Amino acid sequence: MPSSAPENNGPATLAVGGETIELAVDRPALGRTMLDVSSLGQHGLAVYDPGYADTAAYQSGITFVDGEAGRLYFRGYPVEQLATSHSFLEVAYLLMYGELPSPQQADDFVAKVRDPGLVLHVGIERLFDTFPQSMHPMAMLSIATEALNAYADDDASLSPVARVERAGIRLLSSVPVFAGYAHSVLRGVPRGRSNRSLDYVEDFLQLCFSVPGHEQLPDEATARALNTLLVLHADHELNCSTATLRMVASSGASFYASASAAINALWGPLHGGANQEVIRMLQEIKDSGKPLSAIVDKAKDKNDPFRLMGFGHRVYKTTDARARVIRQVALDLVEKLAPADPLLEIAMKLEEVALADDYFISRRLYPNVDFYSGIIYRAIGFPDAMFTPLFVLGRSAGWVAHCMEMATGPNRIGRPTQFYTGPTERTVPSRPGV
Ligand code: ACO
Repeated sequence: MPSSAPENNGPATLAVGGETIELAVDRPALGRTMLDVSSLGQHGLAVYDPGYADTAAYQSGITFVDGEAGRLYFRGYPVEQLATSHSFLEVAYLLMYGELPSPQQADDFVAKVRDPGLVLHVGIERLFDTFPQSMHPMAMLSIATEALNAYADDDASLSPVARVERAGIRLLSSVPVFAGYAHSVLRGVPRGRSNRSLDYVEDFLQLCFSVPGHEQLPDEATARALNTLLVLHADHELNCSTATLRMVASSGASFYASASAAINALWGPLHGGANQEVIRMLQEIKDSGKPLSAIVDKAKDKNDPFRLMGFGHRVYKTTDARARVIRQVALDLVEKLAPADPLLEIAMKLEEVALADDYFISRRLYPNVDFYSGIIYRAIGFPDAMFTPLFVLGRSAGWVAHCMEMATGPNRIGRPTQFYTGPTERTVPSRPGV
């Protein structure tokens, strides 16, 4: 199937089976040149692209990942600049509305998200009473988010984008409470209470670590580190969970249903669940006493499904922009909170061994955002199972922004085609006596 590369801004031509097809060439503001293949169906053709690695299904103006340079931009701003200078809610505002808020806009937005009137309905609180201690908190978050459909007020007279905005603000308000409650279920202790007079991150931390009757406020360094992590996780283009969110929303399902589906997609170990798996892997390395080269060899073995968790990325072909910031936060925070944690040293040595190995070099596999984030969460005092819920806390901002963007533009239901490999038509064998 020979094809000619696009020249200038003219169409690309595709020669298939004696036919020449012209494909429009589009140039996004940033990123790869796009061939518009939406007319291929008229020619009896389709594009086969496992994992959608080279397929753009939506236009979006929120986030851009430059995988070659290892850079990440939110609405044009480099994420590392935002991570240390802005609060998570200011960045959520940027993602949702396209510009950084003025001080007044920031105050108004915080007041909306922190509105005591958005406290959870008792019906959702009771859900947490029914969850067993053994349940994964990502399942709790997904269920509680879905349950907002039943308890949150909606107003069909609002515009589609205003409805998503309203639901999104409620999600941003509720997710830290869900995560705090999930942490209580895991620990088998009574639920704490959200204190809306505190900052977003501080309240979440006190909700997780206070004991009944004694509110335990986090120290400044911990709250600052968690704020940085939430900013770094706030959005990341059309990753697996955000693509899932958009797919579900494209059918007209509610924002909460779409966000609940996104939470489930994020849970997987190849995606957000990797942060939990990294710690498991580092712990196993420590417990087994095996040399790091043995772990790296196992990850390289094509007959072994094991992969080096926290390494590799679909888009980044150099160090993940976020990983650079997180690595430094980990070094600083672990030194302060858990200087005796042996896992940080193992992680640093493993990184060194892998980065010097031809297998990882030739495939351009570098540490991703999850390689060091678990070490930080662990130093703060979270159990492994809480790491991916912490990812949800940050990523919820991006999910709101993506659904708001969808609600302002044209929508076409997401429906990928398939490469059919089953039997061709055949006749059902006759059954005796029928
Ligand atoms: N360890 C060992 N080998 C790896 C790893 C790894 N962590 N990651 C990729 N490879 C190898 C693959 O086996 C493949 O080798 P091959 O060309 O010889 O067949 C090659 O590198 C390319 O990998 P793909 O699986 O094609 O890359 P893809 O873009 O589909 O997957 C992913 C990306 C899922 C992140 C992958 O790198 C991985 O599994 N990493 C470990 C899990 C992880 O850390 N996930 C978190 C990602 S960040 C996030 O979602 C928040």
